[in-house]
Amino acid sequence: MTIELIQRPALSQRLKQETADQHERMHQLMAQGAPFSSRAAYGCFVTAQYLFQRDVEHLFHDSAVQAAVADLHVRGRQEASLADLADLGMTVPNEPLASKAVLMPAALGWLYVSEGSTLGAAFLFKDAQAKLGLSAEFGARNLAAYPEGRAVVWRRFVSSLDNEQIAPEEHDAIIAGANAAYDRFGALLTRYFQLV
Ligand code: HEM
Repeated sequence: MTIELIQRPALSQRLKQETADQHERMHQLMAQGAPFSSRAAYGCFVTAQYLFQRDVEHLFHDSAVQAAVADLHVRGRQEASLADLADLGMTVPNEPLASKAVLMPAALGWLYVSEGSTLGAAFLFKDAQAKLGLSAEFGARNLAAYPEGRAVVWRRFVSSLDNEQIAPEEHDAIIAGANAAYDRFGALLTRYFQLV
């Protein structure tokens, strides 16, 4: 008799596959917003980034999130975005947090979207340097790599996701959290790029 083992896809794989359309939507919004056409347009992107990072870092205060992701102290770009807004002479937006009611396990989906965006940010960072003359010290801090490097910090996040402490029954809620986070970032980009 053969025993068949049912292999479940890893949570990180499910997140990538099941939110691929949302990621594609971000590309489209970025293309429409053309943030590297001028510092003013880029300032709109940083405003959206700041508000999103503020939503994400709010979740860092939750002890259940701290238990799930041990290295939160190296993550997050709220402060960097705030400094970039000052560099660019942009007003700091003041609107309610969108993540107040977000709890574990959905919070992990929000972190997934934010941490994953550090990978695509490598391309955005190059454009910010080449097209707008910005840098990791001025205006484009929010797109710069974490000091340890993008890949190392991302792989460590993926191992927090693909961890047996997270029950398979929680995966759907985490994917729903990632969709909510993408929806939030999409709404911010749409509003601040004035696409509607
Ligand atoms: C035009 C803008 C963007 C570009 C060019 C871009 C590009 C990329 C690229 C190339 C990767 C894959 C890196 C790899 O697999 O090694 C990636 C991953 C990712 N990006 Fe973006 N991205 C953009 C915008 C965004 C935005 C706005 C968000 C969310 C706020 C986002 C969230 C993610 C996530 C979550 C991943 C991880 C996917 C995974 O492996 O699970 N990206 N991006």
